Amino acid sequence: MQSRILVADDAEINRELLCNMLKDEYVIEMAEDGEQALVKLEKYQNETAALLLDLQMPKMNGYDVLAEMKKKGWVKQIPVLIISGEEAVEAEKQCFELGVLDFIRKPFNASVVKTRIRNTVELFAYKNLLEQEVERQTQTLKKQEQIIEIQAEQLKKENSFNNLMMQYRCAIMEVETKLKVLNEEFSQEYNRNPFESISSRLKSPESIFEKLIRKGFPITVKNVEKHLADVAGVRVICSFPDDIYRLAELICGQDDIVVLEEKDYIKYPKDNGYRSLHLILDIPIFLSNEKKYMKVEVQFRTIAMDFWASLEHKLKYKKDVENTEEIVAKLKACADSIGLLDYQMQEIRDQIDNDKAEHKR
Ligand code: GTP
Ligand code: MG
Repeated sequence: MQSRILVADDAEINRELLCNMLKDEYVIEMAEDGEQALVKLEKYQNETAALLLDLQMPKMNGYDVLAEMKKKGWVKQIPVLIISGEEAVEAEKQCFELGVLDFIRKPFNASVVKTRIRNTVELFAYKNLLEQEVERQTQTLKKQEQIIEIQAEQLKKENSFNNLMMQYRCAIMEVETKLKVLNEEFSQEYNRNPFESISSRLKSPESIFEKLIRKGFPITVKNVEKHLADVAGVRVICSFPDDIYRLAELICGQDDIVVLEEKDYIKYPKDNGYRSLHLILDIPIFLSNEKKYMKVEVQFRTIAMDFWASLEHKLKYKKDVENTEEIVAKLKACADSIGLLDYQMQEIRDQIDNDKAEHKR
């Protein structure tokens, strides 16, 4: 229990006055100079609820006591209140800098002194409790991170995990092939390409594990398959919005594909302005001894939407730069302009196509 109050003052009258005011609530220890104060602090380190410290004392003054306490790390452990006369007012700033919490001024008023000490002790205890809680949580987080790292390392060595990654790579190839087939056909028949480029990525093991943990699932190969839909990702960049819908429709209509989910962020952009068409497809891959359905996330975007999304992604993860309201608003405005631009370009293309058709007639 931190039930002791140490009164360090060379004037006996001050020690007596303070002792009388506080002895009902606390056990009072007294020191006549700085050296004695340090000896008592050492002895009752863990039981001292507060130190009432005079600045002018023989042998070792109050500042030296504070400096010594700071050195030993006691300032964080024991709240200090300075017993001060009128003359000490200028010294207050310096005291605060040394970690002092409050002042008790002469002449002493019993109820003010009691309240000040009680408040300081309570606040100090509360602050310490909070700090301990934060420290405890930080340690827990660190431990969790270490556990994840160990689990992740183990899984990376496991055959079943590497097999699964191989299967996702195959699923990506299947989706890419289907898209390329459509591209071939279109360029042959209509002399134009439905998309500009495709890129794909397999989610990194670290990113997979992080997402599983974030969603609250233990790291197992089964959970990767069951709970993550974006381990295999394909991004298709088109010139015009209607190419996106045509391609998506053609892919979804293929009879070996199951559409698990569709999110149309083009018709319904996200609040930040993000636009893309997302599909989660279940697509079969044919292995030597089985046919297996794998999930693939396909994102369709126009060139302009992709430009915006890559930029926004980069900015979002830029350290040291706060995503201020201003930046958020500007990004949203850009996204809206881009959305408009896409449709204006599409209109121009339609007009040119119509003119061409009429010319032919
Ligand atoms: P994630 O947990 O991020 O995968 O989100 P989700 O499972 O709710 O799916 P959603 O369809 O919203 O997003 C899937 C992917 O689209 C993300 O992983 C990003 O690659 C991309 N995406 C979604 N929202 C944004 C965005 O606001 N900005 C950018 N740059 N990309 C986004
Ligand atoms: Mg994702």
